[in-house]
Amino acid sequence: MIPVIGLDELRAARLSLKGTVGLVPTMGYLHEGHLSLIRRAKAECDHVAVSIFVNPTQFGANEDLSKYPRDLERDLSLIEPLGVDLVWNPTPEIMYPTGYQTWVEVEAMTRPLEGAMRPTHFKGVTTVVAKLFNAIQPHKAYFGQKDAQQVAVIRQMVWDLNFPLEVVVCPTMREADGLAMSSRNKYLEGEDRKAAVVLFQALNAAKEAYQGGERDAEMLRSRMKNVLEAEPRAQIQYVSCADYNTLEELEMIKGKALLSMAVLIGKTRLIDNFVLE
Ligand code: PAF
Repeated sequence: MIPVIGLDELRAARLSLKGTVGLVPTMGYLHEGHLSLIRRAKAECDHVAVSIFVNPTQFGANEDLSKYPRDLERDLSLIEPLGVDLVWNPTPEIMYPTGYQTWVEVEAMTRPLEGAMRPTHFKGVTTVVAKLFNAIQPHKAYFGQKDAQQVAVIRQMVWDLNFPLEVVVCPTMREADGLAMSSRNKYLEGEDRKAAVVLFQALNAAKEAYQGGERDAEMLRSRMKNVLEAEPRAQIQYVSCADYNTLEELEMIKGKALLSMAVLIGKTRLIDNFVLE
C-alpha cells in the first residue's frame, strides 16, 4: 500500500474512485479502534480513504506534538489487509503552506471540557477536518465515540457549513480490562497502566447509579470523583455530566446525557466517556 502525499496526486487518486467514499481521518499510530472504523467504512461504502496526519495545529504549546507516536510502516501494514483504496499522508507544509491564514472555528460547544483545558485544540481539529473533507470529498466520515466532544463539534461544523456528508460515530473500543483504546496508551507503563482502568470504573459507578434511577447530575459527578480520588496515581482534570448535544453541564438528567472525564495517570492524559440514553 503506497500512500499519496501531494494534493495533485490525491486529487487524481480520488477521481479514480467511482461510487461512495468513506473517510477515516487519523493521526496514525493505528490501533484496533481505528481498524474498527475502517471495517465499518468498508462495509458501508464502495471505497475507503484513510488520512494519516499528525496535525500540529491541534496541539497546544505545552503538548506532546514532537513526542506523539508515529510509525507509518506499521500503520500501512495494519491497513493493507483491510482493503483500503486510498491513504493520504500529507506533510505539515502541504496542509499549512507558508502564508496559510484560514481557520474554521465552532464557538460555544468548544469552550467547556476539553476546550477549557486545551483552548486552541478544537480550532486545529475543525480546520484540519474541514480541509480533509474538501480534499477527499467523502460521502461518509467515521469517528470514534471515545472523543465525544470532537464528534459533537465536527457534527456541528458539518451542519453549520453544509458539508454534504454523513458523520458516522462508532463505539469506543476497549482493552480487556475496560481501558479505552488510544494511541497515547503507549505512554502508560507498569503501575500507571494498571491504574488507568480507574476511568472505566468511575464511569461504570455513575452508570450503575443512573440505572438504579439516579437522575441528579451532581450525584453522578460525585460518584465518578469518589472512584477516581481513591486511585493515588489519578489526578482529575474534569468530570462532567452534560447534555449530549450542547455539552452544557446538567443539574437533572432528562434526555440523552454524556458522562465524561479527563484524568492524568502519572504524566499521561486520558479521556473517556459513556453516553446515557
Ligand atoms: O481524532 C483524531 O485522531 C484527530 O483529532 C483527527 C480527527 C484525525 C483530526 O486531526
